[in-house]
Amino acid sequence: MGLLLRVTLTWLLLLANAVYTKITPLVYDEQLLWVSGEAGQVKAYRVPLVTFTPQGSLLAFAEARKESSGDIGAKFIAMKRSTDKGATWSPTSFIVNDGSLVDGLNLGAVVVDEQTGAVMLIYSLCFHLFGCSPTSTMLVESLDDGLTWSTPRNLSVQLGVKSFAPGPGFGIQKRYKPGAGRLVVCGHGSIEGDGVFCILSDDHGRTWRNGAALKSIPYNQPKQILDFNPDECQPVELEDGSIMINVRNQNNYHCRCRMVVRSLDGGETLPVEELVFDHTLVDPVVAAGALQKAGVLYFTNPANSHLRVNMTLRWSLTDGRSWENEAVQIWPGPSGYSSMTSLVTNSVEDDKYIFVIYEKGHSNYIETISVAKIHLYGGR
Ligand SMILES: *[C@@H]1O[C@H](CO)[C@@H](O)[C@H](O)[C@H]1NC(C)=O
Ligand SMILES: *[C@@H]1O[C@H](CO)[C@@H](O)[C@H](O)[C@H]1NC(C)=O
Repeated sequence: MGLLLRVTLTWLLLLANAVYTKITPLVYDEQLLWVSGEAGQVKAYRVPLVTFTPQGSLLAFAEARKESSGDIGAKFIAMKRSTDKGATWSPTSFIVNDGSLVDGLNLGAVVVDEQTGAVMLIYSLCFHLFGCSPTSTMLVESLDDGLTWSTPRNLSVQLGVKSFAPGPGFGIQKRYKPGAGRLVVCGHGSIEGDGVFCILSDDHGRTWRNGAALKSIPYNQPKQILDFNPDECQPVELEDGSIMINVRNQNNYHCRCRMVVRSLDGGETLPVEELVFDHTLVDPVVAAGALQKAGVLYFTNPANSHLRVNMTLRWSLTDGRSWENEAVQIWPGPSGYSSMTSLVTNSVEDDKYIFVIYEKGHSNYIETISVAKIHLYGGR
């Protein structure tokens, strides 16, 4: 019996390994969700996010910039919903409207609490302190699979008013110890007070507190080129319970590539000893996507040292210590911010796909927001 069990386990491990090494991603389907300048009220769609929901739907979000394509200015949060695994998407609903604010809302991070079924979207108001003060960190939440949304709640009452721009991307709910069940949302500070900062909730999003920080140097002072300036970021939880955060290297400190930092205590600290520079992940200074699924780490960015072009998917079987040589080019042309998700269900079929949402264009990456459904075992 013991021997049989051991043989079976070994065989299962070999099988699992064989499945991992056979990842051959193929773009299975791709759709434009938003086209900038198309809708009368909106000049540009930017900063796309996508998430699974506990009911097996997909929700896509983007900033709908009313007056110009610039980061500052009044915006809506646009949302589309898919209940058929990305085959079709609902019409756009504008779930948040900041009115006519001079320095309006900025997305943002979406975080799903799988224990309560809540989908929360966290964004900032007045992040650039342009004609307004202070910055507020805001939360809206849906308890019915994205159909309706709460009025905005001001988290700065609990967190303080330090400028904080969540994500862009998703926040995580810890699956493993330490801090199982905790919601962890990471983002970055304002330019002078920049760095990676995480906010934490141990009561399903009711209360939030400040957690880990990896501060820029010199902190709270104007930066020069090549200074240490960690910026927009995407956390994922690894199977050992650590949180790995893939970070935009704003001032190209040390390399034109991504910074990666880990928290070993559930998002309370980000020790400098856990900071590395991933020279394989060449980057033009942009918000990138990361996703951990079934022991494989995925990464998307415009893979070019200077230009936002060449949207590329990479994958690692070693938690990012090395990357597979094959990379899949999703779009050769202009491409900017990207974010990923996958459906978390009991269906074997859903395990075969991941979804990449990204800024895509022919002459400029802000022209459209596109979502690609990737079949992980579809290529070659
Ligand atoms: C959010 O709360 C902070 C702290 O109390 C306050 O300074 C800020 O004005 C509030 N923001 C909004 C939009 O109500
Ligand atoms: C696109 O990315 C691939 C994979 O990293 C790289 O080999 C290629 O040189 C890149 N092309 C451009 C134009 O950036």
